[in-house]
Parts: sequence; C-alpha cells; structure tokens
Amino acid sequence: TSVAAVIPAAGRGVRLGPGAPKALRALSGTPMLIHAVRALAASRHVALVVVVAPPDGAAGVKSLLDAHALPDRTDFLVVPGGESRQESVRLGLEALPPQYGIVLVHDAARPLVPVDTVDAVVEAVRDGAPAVVPALPLADTVKEVAPAAEAGEPEPVVATPERSRLRAVQTPQGFDRATLVRAHESVTENVTDDASMVEQLGLPVVAVPGHEEAFKVTRPLDLVLAEAVLARRRL
Ligand code: C5P
Repeated sequence: TSVAAVIPAAGRGVRLGPGAPKALRALSGTPMLIHAVRALAASRHVALVVVVAPPDGAAGVKSLLDAHALPDRTDFLVVPGGESRQESVRLGLEALPPQYGIVLVHDAARPLVPVDTVDAVVEAVRDGAPAVVPALPLADTVKEVAPAAEAGEPEPVVATPERSRLRAVQTPQGFDRATLVRAHESVTENVTDDASMVEQLGLPVVAVPGHEEAFKVTRPLDLVLAEAVLARRRL
C-alpha cells in the first residue's frame, strides 16, 4: 500500500513572535515548510505530500512549492486548512486519493526530522501497528500543576509522574488510513496530537525511537537551534 504524508501548516505561530505564519518563516533562507516537505519527500516510501495551508493562503503556498526544487518521484497537493490543527489534518485527509493506505501526519514546525525517523515510522505501520509515534525520553522531570489561586500567584504542584515512563512525542506520526479517518470522525474534543485520538478509540498506539533533530520549532530560541543544526549538516 502507498504512503502519503499530510503536513498541517495552517498555524499562525504566535509563540514564535510577530511575523509571517510559522511555516513560512525562513530557516537559513528557506521557509520552514519547504524544509519539512523535503524531509518527508526524502523517504523513498512517501509518494504524496499534502500540505495544509492557511485558509486564505493556499495559492501562495502552491507557488512557494513550485519555486523550490522538490523530488520528481513525489506528488504534491495543497489544500486550505482550518481553525484548529485537528481540523487542518482532517481537511488534508479528505484530499487523499484512495490508493494511499498509510498516512503520516507531520508538523511543518518540525522541519529537520531525519529520513531514518520517517522510515522507522512507516516500517512500524507496515508491520501492522495502526498508529505509531516517534518518541524520546525526557531530560526534565515533569510535574502536574493545578491552577493558581490568583493570576501571578505560584501554581500548586499536584503530581510527579515517574520520569522513566514518560516520553516526549514527535512527528511524523504514522497511521493505518482507515484508523485515522475513523478517529477524526469520532473524536470531537480538541487534542494536541493525532495518536491520542486513536488511543481514545481503544486501539493500540506504539512508540519508536524519535530523534533530537525532530524537535518542534516553537519559540524564538528554537530558530537559533534549527539554524545551527542546518549549519552542522552542511559541514
Ligand atoms: O501550534 P502548534 O505548534 O502545535 O502547531 C503544530 C502544527 O499544526 C504546525 O505545523 C501548525 O502550522 C499546524 N496548525 C494547522 N492549523 C491550525 C493550527 C496549527 O495546520 N489551525
């Protein structure tokens, strides 16, 4: 069965500071989205990349893709996105032609994911997992807090999950297509990743090793780190 990748790139990226939509910000002179598209198209498994553009920005994203060198053996589609990441992914799924039985969902905000990570996710889905996430152990201890009594007051800590059992989850996340479509049809509350919708269906989700270069570009310091990684790759 063929593999398609959906890249939600419709977010505004307010945490990164003022400016263009996050996916269109430049990293070493090339928009983050183009890096992300190339990272997915670098996998010999991926035959189609669907980019979900800002609702009013599909034409602009289409010309951006046309203006950059992309592999010939991969097809590209651009569709307008929605209000939430979840809605953007659903709109990308609806645009997929029938022959794609495996779907990867990859954040435009993770432009530097290595091809080996993409391939490992695809292979785990091919081996029969309905949903696969790349994941890394945490360096920081994580605490659950309750809301502060008043704004500006300290937040009470309510729990400390055992760190060795926690993972930070990245993208691309890989899915059996029918499973992901069903998850999007039945889960309505807003979630921050696609695999959690499959968990809510009661289906197994498995984790494969992620990669530190698959980090999410969220805050201004992440741009500095991403450009340093690119500079190191060019050495
Ligand atoms: O905001 P966050 O960093 O979690 O966004 C993750 C990804 O989801 C980004 O690639 C962003 O462009 C995308 N997104 C989207 N549609 C939205 C909101 C976010 O495609 N409405």
